[in-house]
Amino acid sequence: MLQDKITQYTAEINAFSTSNADELEQFRIKFLGTKGIIKDIFDEFKAVSPEEKRTLGKVLNEFKQLAEARYQSLKEETEVAVSSKDSGLDLTLPGEGFDVGSRHPLALVRREIIEIFSKLGFVVAEGPEIEDDWHNFSALNFPEEHPARDMQDTFFIKKGGEKGDIALRTHTSSVQVRMMEHGKPPFRAIMPGRVYRNEAISARAHCFFHQIEGLYVDENVSFADLKQTLFYFVQELYGEGTKVRFRPSYFPFTEPSAEMDISCTICKGAGCPMCKYSGWVEILGCGMVDPNVLENCGIDSKKYSGFAFGMGIERIANLKYEIKDLRFFSENDARFLKQYKTSLI
Ligand code: DAH
Repeated sequence: MLQDKITQYTAEINAFSTSNADELEQFRIKFLGTKGIIKDIFDEFKAVSPEEKRTLGKVLNEFKQLAEARYQSLKEETEVAVSSKDSGLDLTLPGEGFDVGSRHPLALVRREIIEIFSKLGFVVAEGPEIEDDWHNFSALNFPEEHPARDMQDTFFIKKGGEKGDIALRTHTSSVQVRMMEHGKPPFRAIMPGRVYRNEAISARAHCFFHQIEGLYVDENVSFADLKQTLFYFVQELYGEGTKVRFRPSYFPFTEPSAEMDISCTICKGAGCPMCKYSGWVEILGCGMVDPNVLENCGIDSKKYSGFAFGMGIERIANLKYEIKDLRFFSENDARFLKQYKTSLI
C-alpha cells in the first residue's frame, strides 16, 4: 500500500516542471508542507510492521530527498527566470543561430587527394614558395637557355645567388628535388602547394594556382606502377568506371613523359563544353623520373627508378564542382565560398 503510493508520487514528482513561482509554491505545500504528502506518509509509516519498516525506511527517505531536490532545482530555475526578466533579459528565449563558415573548395579537394594517396602509403611533403633556379629548373633537367624554361613564365625576384636566380616557384616539382637531395630512397610522397606564373589573369588563367606533385622512387619502379597508381586515384576521386588514357608528352624532368586524360566527368564522354565535345579532359602530367634528375639529386640511377606526376588542384576542383571561372577561387566572395559546406572539419 505505502509502497504503491510512493511509486505513484515519485512518478508525479519526476514529471513535474515549472518556472512559475506560484505553481512551485503549490508543489511545495502539496509534498513538503506541514500537512503535505510526505508528512502523511511518514505518519502512515509509523503503523507498519517492523520487518516492513526495514525495507520501506530506505525507500521513504529516498522519496523525501527526491521531493526536496526537485523543489530546490526548480526553485533555482524559477529565480533565474524571474531575475532575468527583471533585468530585461529573458534567458528562456531561444538562442540565435550563428554561421559556422565553410571550407574553401580548393582545401576540400586537396584534402580528398591527400587522403586517397595516403591509402597507398604516400606521405605529404612541402617546400618553399620562393625558390632558386637549381631547385625549380636546373636540377629538373631544364638546360640553361633551353626553350623549355619558356614553358613556365616566371616571376623573378633576384638575379644571381649561390644556386641561381631567385624566383617564385613555377611548379611543385621543385619539392621533389628538395626531398631527394635530403633523403635516401625509397621516396613515396605527394607535395601540395601554391605556384606562380607570370600570366594575364582571366577566367582560364591566373598568376597563382595550386598543384599537387607526386613522387615514387624505389628499386624496379616501372611505368606500369605509374599507370596503376593513377588509375586507382581516378577511380577513388571520380568514381569507378571513370576511364583514363595516356598521351605521349614532353617534360624535361621525365622520360618518357605523358599527359593523362580522364573520361569527362560532366557528360560521361558524350561531349559537352567542359571537354570541348571530345569526351576527354586532361588532368595531369606524369612520367618516369629522368635519370639525370636522380643523379642531380645524388641518387644512383642504375639502382633506382621512379615515377612522378603533377596536377593542378583548381582543374580537379573545376571538374568536380563545375566552376567556370578561375578567379572565383581567390576573390573571397562569401556567396561563392559558402556553397561548399561540408561536415568534414
Ligand atoms: N611540373 C609540371 C607542370 O607544372 C607538372 C608535371 C608534369 C609534374 C609531369 C610532374 C611530371 O612530376 O612528371 O606543368
